[in-house]
Amino acid sequence: MRITGLGHASVLIESAGGTILTDPWVNPAYFGSWFPFPDNSGLDWDAIGQADYLFVSHLHRDHFDPEHLRRRISKKTTVLLPTFPTSELQDALRDVGFTSFVQPPPGEVMRLDGLEVMIQSLTSPTDGPIGDSSLWVRDRDATVLNQNDARPSELSAFLDLGPVDAYLVQFSGAIWFPMVYELPERAKQALGLTKRERQFDRTLRYIEECRARYVFPIAGPPCFLDEELWAFNDMFGDESNIFPDQRVYLDWLAGKGHHEGRLLLPGSLAELGVDGCPVTHPISDAEVDALFTDKERYLRAYQARRMPEVERAKLTWAHPELDLLAELKSWFAPLLAEADHMAGGIDGGIRFTAADAERGDVDLLVDFVGREVREYAGEKVRYRFLTRRAYLERLVHEHETDWVNSLFLSCRFSAQRIGPYNEFVYTFFKCLSEERLNYAEGWFAEQNETEAAETITLDGWEVQRRCPHLKADLTRFGSVEGDVLTCQMHGWKWRLTDGKCLTSVGHDIRSTAAAQLPPDLPAAPVTGACPS
Ligand code: FES
Repeated sequence: MRITGLGHASVLIESAGGTILTDPWVNPAYFGSWFPFPDNSGLDWDAIGQADYLFVSHLHRDHFDPEHLRRRISKKTTVLLPTFPTSELQDALRDVGFTSFVQPPPGEVMRLDGLEVMIQSLTSPTDGPIGDSSLWVRDRDATVLNQNDARPSELSAFLDLGPVDAYLVQFSGAIWFPMVYELPERAKQALGLTKRERQFDRTLRYIEECRARYVFPIAGPPCFLDEELWAFNDMFGDESNIFPDQRVYLDWLAGKGHHEGRLLLPGSLAELGVDGCPVTHPISDAEVDALFTDKERYLRAYQARRMPEVERAKLTWAHPELDLLAELKSWFAPLLAEADHMAGGIDGGIRFTAADAERGDVDLLVDFVGREVREYAGEKVRYRFLTRRAYLERLVHEHETDWVNSLFLSCRFSAQRIGPYNEFVYTFFKCLSEERLNYAEGWFAEQNETEAAETITLDGWEVQRRCPHLKADLTRFGSVEGDVLTCQMHGWKWRLTDGKCLTSVGHDIRSTAAAQLPPDLPAAPVTGACPS
């Protein structure tokens, strides 16, 4: 089996049973902010696009590139389709011309000619744009697990099928936190450092669970070619930068005693054999080194090639004909009326300031108590977003139902927050359609009931087994220090004395101190039959 790197999360898996192309992304995403690193636009996409199968893991724009799919990927290709709560991914793929779909039942192995595939879909409202997925593939010679940027609470569904030869996993950041927050620089650095460490540690946990023969870091980092985002590129030796590159990560991994990591650049060929996995890059070793050691020069040349298209696109973003307040009022009114869980969790107003030096600012309040959008009138708010008027106009003009998959991931905004992170805020702004909103509300209602059911004992505390965030099994991901529980899946914390979530509002945990044994009784045996 052979794996060809195609940039970011895209690879071509070639096997005796057929070829699979994953997540081809070339065009700038999120208001022209993100580009693949390194540049993959020069690959022979017309040849690559003849793959037998296409797998698009989810709708995030660095995985789903409609323009590229429309122009360069053959419509004879059969799509391997994850099962998500809404049909949006399939609809979007149909829109760009695909007509042949195979949808393996979730979590079940499907046999195609000479290939076995399994797709695991994650379906919480906070997984990607309502849905993210991982792909497992086996042919007669080897097994590949492309976890991508999905975060399954455990890999056992895949590992039960046998050893994995190649494991593809995200290692770098894909978020706007903490960079866009208006915080003192030192606080921002401390948060960035913790975030970066957590990203790396999470991969290690997965890698040790997976025990694959080879690990390929994929799905990041993006690079930022717009001058106003330039500082987000990891090339200034800043360990608080959340977008570390492949070389930084592989060095870190080797430092942890893991030497199975392999670098995949666009065009790199990894030959998965019984005795090894040689990787051949399309450029010399010196050029590979220069990509990472002289990154600024590389990115400046990339910027000169690709930024003109973003500059042209920027001219189309403003829509002065739109009355933003009136449009958002009527769009959000039915959504706010139905958003009981999210409105309860936010319990306040979110202020949006959309600035424009020439046309004047628009200052709005999305009021989750009064359930309306209105002009901002000086109220105290816990969240405030500041962006450009043209960006908000574009979101309204396109009727963009997922502002995470557009404005927020663009990082073209700044944010102020008083108090803890509130996950309901971002969930609401990715559910700006009736279909999504209803799904999310139903999911929260169901989650509250089921997650509190099972109890485990952790370091002297009885807690619910499933993490109140995204259901990670706390017997494996939970760790207790003093009276604080941390779920290592995403690093969320809870105070066990009262169950309060210290990371986000509204995700409290059920916890009590475990009953102490009376002092005159011997401790129960660690193993053995029931003492009775
Ligand atoms: S599942 Fe996200 S912190 Fe536990």
